[in-house]
Amino acid sequence: MPYRTIIEPFRIHTVEPIDFPDAAQRRGALERAGYNLFELHADEVIIDLLTDSGTGAMSTAQWAGMMRGDESYAGSRSFYRFRDTVSAITGLSQVIPTHQGRAAERILFQTAIEPGDVVPNNTHFDTTRANVEFQGAEARDLVTSEAKDHGSSYPFKGNMDTERLRHTIAEVGRDRIPLVMLTVTNNSGGGQPVSLANMREVRTICDEHDIPFFLDACRFAENAWFIKSREEGQADRSPRDIATEMFSLVDGATMSAKKDGMSNIGGFLAMNDARLAEACRNLLILTEGFPTYGGLAGYDLEAVAQGLEEALDPEYLRYRTRSTAYLADKVDRAGIPIIKPPGGHAVYLDAAAMLPHIPRSQFPAQALACALYLEGGVRGVEIGSVMFGKRLEDGTEVPGPNELVRLAVPRRTYTQSHIDYVGEVLIAVAERADELSGLRLTYQAPWLRHFTARFEPAA
Ligand code: F0G
Repeated sequence: MPYRTIIEPFRIHTVEPIDFPDAAQRRGALERAGYNLFELHADEVIIDLLTDSGTGAMSTAQWAGMMRGDESYAGSRSFYRFRDTVSAITGLSQVIPTHQGRAAERILFQTAIEPGDVVPNNTHFDTTRANVEFQGAEARDLVTSEAKDHGSSYPFKGNMDTERLRHTIAEVGRDRIPLVMLTVTNNSGGGQPVSLANMREVRTICDEHDIPFFLDACRFAENAWFIKSREEGQADRSPRDIATEMFSLVDGATMSAKKDGMSNIGGFLAMNDARLAEACRNLLILTEGFPTYGGLAGYDLEAVAQGLEEALDPEYLRYRTRSTAYLADKVDRAGIPIIKPPGGHAVYLDAAAMLPHIPRSQFPAQALACALYLEGGVRGVEIGSVMFGKRLEDGTEVPGPNELVRLAVPRRTYTQSHIDYVGEVLIAVAERADELSGLRLTYQAPWLRHFTARFEPAA
């Protein structure tokens, strides 16, 4: 089309009302929540950018598919439709449905990892890291050094530093590395993509040492789009063709279908190794369900099968990445520091740069997320020292690698005016950034503390 505006490639079919809590209600809700936005009730939020996981709108074809969901306990038709779609896109022969991504991670890691092992990844997502550590292994992040410069426009900041991968293999020995993973896109590192060239290099290194290579494939379609639009020689390929090449380079994948499966729930574990798959299936039966449903309803399997196809539609991906970039451009023009270039699913605000007066031990990113909520009922998520820091026995805080607030855009859910509103809220908070103060942690759980931690304003 000759026009500049990229329009939503859909029109709205069903609407869901938004609540408008006023400033006093938001203040009360935040205090009750212990300054943890995970504790808010949905009706206390105006625009919910907490996550793009399971929060998107399904299509007419997905809802129609749900009506033909086959709820047979064993051998459901919907399972075979799901399996065939996953195999057609990924080329992986063994497809194990799970209720979401972390279930696939837990089953894979419990089966493949021993205590003392080391799992390299570009950057582990929080549940992935926790599931590796829960097996007594080390989750080692080896993202490229380009990722550390938030302002640079390097196109593939999700790449793995392959030199550091070689060093890690030399240091710990092949026998203690049960698998290498790459997260596409690299969620905890700003939603940044991984190039095909980098995946090929990691494949070569894994082959040299006979180490299995897995993708954390949650946002594989967005990654494929970034390859198409940024990697040399890829512009004329379809996202589907690129995605299939991405999967052809790995031995297996874990997937949360709540992201690029365009569904409200679901996931899978897929691989080529039939022996490993058999061990995983046995564990699946113990904790998730029979291998033809894996903890999902037949209708969920239908929604995911259809959603995986829709996620690869070029018109959808063009709109998806453009609408995230639209928010990023707005914020950037207002001088608010963000990770550049913007990721596919989210804009990441750099709270350390925005609030230099708040010490890391007082959680600047958490403070910023709370301020956005108080200002305009916008809920983002902290990806900083609450999520990735640690409290030592003596009470000192070891900060995480970054202090980010992620504004994740649910798929096909908000319109341009919602996003314009978010931009205004952000600008209002940025204008009085020097008045914001930090938080003191008063409670934390033994792992994944960010979900349930409680805080008080630091005096
Ligand atoms: N891997 C990545 C890269 C993820 O982003 C997530 C979830 C998971 C694994 C786990 O999948 O939630 O289905 O169990 N990310 C969500 C988020 C929760 O907000 O980014 P899950």
